[in-house]
Amino acid sequence: STTPSLTATTPMTSALKGTQKTSTSQSQGKKPSSEFDSSDKTLQNGLGQLAKKQKRKLQHQTDGKSKKLFNKEPATADIIARAKDLRKHRQSLPIHTAREIIIQEVKNNACVVIVGETGSGKTTQIPQYLLEAGLAAHGTIAITQPRRVAAINLARRVADEVGTPLGQKVGYSIRFDDTSSKDSMIKYMTDGIMLRELLSDPLLLRYSVIILDEAHERTLRTDILFGMVKSIQKQRSDMIEKDGRKDIRPLKIVVMSATLDAEKFSEYFYNAKIMYISGRMYPVTILNTVEPQSDYVDAALVTSFQIHQDEQPGDILVFLTGQEEIESLEKLIEEYAVDLPAQVGKLIPCPIFAAQDSATQQKIFEPAPLGTRKVILATNIAETSITIPNIRYVIDTGCHKSRGYNAKIGIESLLVEPISKSSARQRSGRAGREAPGLCFRLYTEDSFDLLDEDTVPEIKRCNLESAILSLKATGVDDVTRFDFMDRPSKSGMLRSLEHLYALEALDDEGKLTEIGKKMAAFPVDPPYAKVLLQSEKMECTKEAIEIISLLSVDTIFSSPSSKREEANEARQKFTSIDGDHLTLLNTLRAYESMKGDRDWCRENFINSRHMRHVLDVRAQLIQFCERIGINPKKSCGHEYDIVIKCFLAGFFANTALLQPDATYKSIVGGLTVSIHPSSSLFGKKREAIVYNELVFTTKHYIRGVSAVESAWLSHAAPKYFGQRHA
Ligand code: CDP
Ligand code: MG
Repeated sequence: STTPSLTATTPMTSALKGTQKTSTSQSQGKKPSSEFDSSDKTLQNGLGQLAKKQKRKLQHQTDGKSKKLFNKEPATADIIARAKDLRKHRQSLPIHTAREIIIQEVKNNACVVIVGETGSGKTTQIPQYLLEAGLAAHGTIAITQPRRVAAINLARRVADEVGTPLGQKVGYSIRFDDTSSKDSMIKYMTDGIMLRELLSDPLLLRYSVIILDEAHERTLRTDILFGMVKSIQKQRSDMIEKDGRKDIRPLKIVVMSATLDAEKFSEYFYNAKIMYISGRMYPVTILNTVEPQSDYVDAALVTSFQIHQDEQPGDILVFLTGQEEIESLEKLIEEYAVDLPAQVGKLIPCPIFAAQDSATQQKIFEPAPLGTRKVILATNIAETSITIPNIRYVIDTGCHKSRGYNAKIGIESLLVEPISKSSARQRSGRAGREAPGLCFRLYTEDSFDLLDEDTVPEIKRCNLESAILSLKATGVDDVTRFDFMDRPSKSGMLRSLEHLYALEALDDEGKLTEIGKKMAAFPVDPPYAKVLLQSEKMECTKEAIEIISLLSVDTIFSSPSSKREEANEARQKFTSIDGDHLTLLNTLRAYESMKGDRDWCRENFINSRHMRHVLDVRAQLIQFCERIGINPKKSCGHEYDIVIKCFLAGFFANTALLQPDATYKSIVGGLTVSIHPSSSLFGKKREAIVYNELVFTTKHYIRGVSAVESAWLSHAAPKYFGQRHA
């Protein structure tokens, strides 16, 4: 039977975040508004730069879906001329010397693993080498990418290098945007799209070579793809050798990674040969802050200007966690840049994120106008996926958003997490590609020591049930026999399957149900997905979204040890006698009626940073519900029983009954559980309770507790309680 997993409480980023805000010398000279609209200016600069070079280049940049400056398709001759220009660059890449041997190895082996420093030319060159060697004669060469922006950007670049318009010989395919055509011989695609294609083309027959790029990232999707592609290769070769099928071609697999630990990939792919491409690296000096920084955007701003005023020419690359941060730093840089002394050149912010047209995105690859300096604002896409030239300075915030990693509710890409040591090293490496560089880490040396050595593969971090749902949605019926690179325990898998069945995501035969299909698409862990689906039926999606968002952070309350009593007293105002779910909701309502006022938060011991995260999560969930056709505004008004019943539909496995001796015993597993002292039901006696998490410290503590009626149970999970408690 299902036992809730034990979660240890992990103090997030606390190592990286201090409390003291750094004040900046720049902030004194700050002007309220700026007459310098950087986007226009940089565009002009960019255009000026281009005009000086070649007019035809500009026309080419207005291709694809981007806004058109001139309504004229690029002429073939221009494209060919540009490809000729790029040939020199291609030949200067470190990977060029290995061209022949790479072609030979891929021709002679079914699987090859290639390891090479970021920027050595793996992603852009290897597909072209294989194309030139005739490996696309019987099918397309596919290259998978974990990120959409990278797929688009690299396809554009390679189309330029090959010398045909995007969408012909070279194309890309991402969700809702497919430029590839029947003629495409090289196709960049997200791993998600390839998983989707598997459903309609189970042997991926349209591909002759599949290149699994950025393998070191070990995303859940890439891991699933590893297993799928490996099995397809075997099936195809069996059909050729055993069945004598002449119409089937063998599949070549190339795995590419930017980190050295490639043995694991090699072992998994039948001890495939590993080829190491040596890059050129210059020394990078690493500087850590003396004090922890509470606001790394602010610290990045100060550091950018410090570099700009004190250091040699060379562009700056700042690693941030998301579009919002990127845009806010862009604005700040523009504002402060106005106050630069006249003799100092311009500092031009260049953001890079998904929702950008091609001309804007290409701008980050163009050299900054003479006497100016670019500061590239990127997420960890610039860590290994995309290499930007001329970077001498890296500013590393030490944080990223990592998909599927939020131990709380499993929501995708939301909470900011500290990076691993190996990521930090990759980031600093970006400063030393062309000359000796400097890396400014916006965290202390001690914080660095506390970072994990490597990023743990997503499949080990994410909820196993989510992974199983993804596999099932990809058509893998028997997940226990799936060829995982990192195999979860069999008992863990069986437990998860049982739980998914109880959640009605799987039917009696273990096949995905309609509910299960929907749950697989949700960006949250299955129990929360079930709550949201149930809320649609029970017409309380607004409240369900709000409570889930509130549960996505450790706590929205702050209780400094010196003022614990005051804090407890303040919290009484929001406390609901029915438990934590409604207490949280009350607090959110009060917070919103005060418009998130910081003083009010301080007086009421509410953690405003966490509260802003909550609003972030809520916005994402609202957007998601809208996208799949669930009305996120449907409210149950004050009939809060309804929303608690919804939670029960997802968390029936986390329920406990009051015992004669006033303790609570969990229904599943018969564990004696204690309500956490921070809960509003602490010390209260209710017939039955539902809780969100079990934390093991000195006792089995439960947190996020609400009272329920035992009569609700069998209704909430008929498959579960029907047999046992009917
Ligand atoms: O995959 P890997 O990290 O080994 O390198 P790559 O992505 O193939 O990049 C090879 C070179 O192409 C780098 O020097 C990039 O700066 C350059 N590149 C570019 O100039 N413009 C692009 N849109 C993409 C890559
Ligand atoms: Mg690459």
